[in-house]
Amino acid sequence: MRSIDVCLSPDLIHLYPVQESAIVVVDILRATSCMTTAFAHGVESIRPFAKLDECLAMKGNGYFTAGERDGKKVEGFDFGNSPFEYMHDSIKGKRIAFTTTNGTLAIARSEGAKQILIGSFLNLSALTEHLTTIPHNVLVVCAAWKGKVNLEDTLFAGALVEKLKAVAAPSCDAPLMAQRLYRQAKDNMVDYLKESSHVKRLARLNIHKDIEFCLTPDRYTAVPKLMDRELTL
Ligand code: MLT
Repeated sequence: MRSIDVCLSPDLIHLYPVQESAIVVVDILRATSCMTTAFAHGVESIRPFAKLDECLAMKGNGYFTAGERDGKKVEGFDFGNSPFEYMHDSIKGKRIAFTTTNGTLAIARSEGAKQILIGSFLNLSALTEHLTTIPHNVLVVCAAWKGKVNLEDTLFAGALVEKLKAVAAPSCDAPLMAQRLYRQAKDNMVDYLKESSHVKRLARLNIHKDIEFCLTPDRYTAVPKLMDRELTL
């Protein structure tokens, strides 16, 4: 049987066999939920950048710019980091340079993996199906918050452990822990997360509706993959 492991923060990634794994990067609130939504609405590609200035340099270079720092849209960017910004027809066929506080950094730290896939509750079943068809062990890399573990990415990791339990065995306590938390939370994740730090941070920015949306399972079938530094379908 294959294995599934969970890296709870990009700062712990040196402990994991990146090069032998298919990595699922997750930033439920909100980067990977935005990316999934954008592909479901016809975006052509997303180029993730860990660094803000590198992302900004892509503007007018065939790319639109998107993302946030500390939850806020970056001045001069075309799009921010709400999934609702990626649901319009205007997104179709666009190439987007994207940078976020934690999500795109987690993608950069995953470099060298057998595959890098974008995970969110929005594409949970489609992602699970894809992972059952490939031969690699699975590593879920949680974007977390500035190196600190967060609850929402851990819940998603637990959901994936649960979904893959027939084909992939937990390889240490992090996947087991995530799975147990997910089982506790799954019937009302919005309520379970109400005291979590990023939900409170987003509430201070008056962002509420994104949370429920990002916690909705299986809205889309798009599973973005990183190829030659670009996410595509
Ligand atoms: C991140 O990458 O840290 C998040 O997507 C932040 C946010 O919710 O805007």
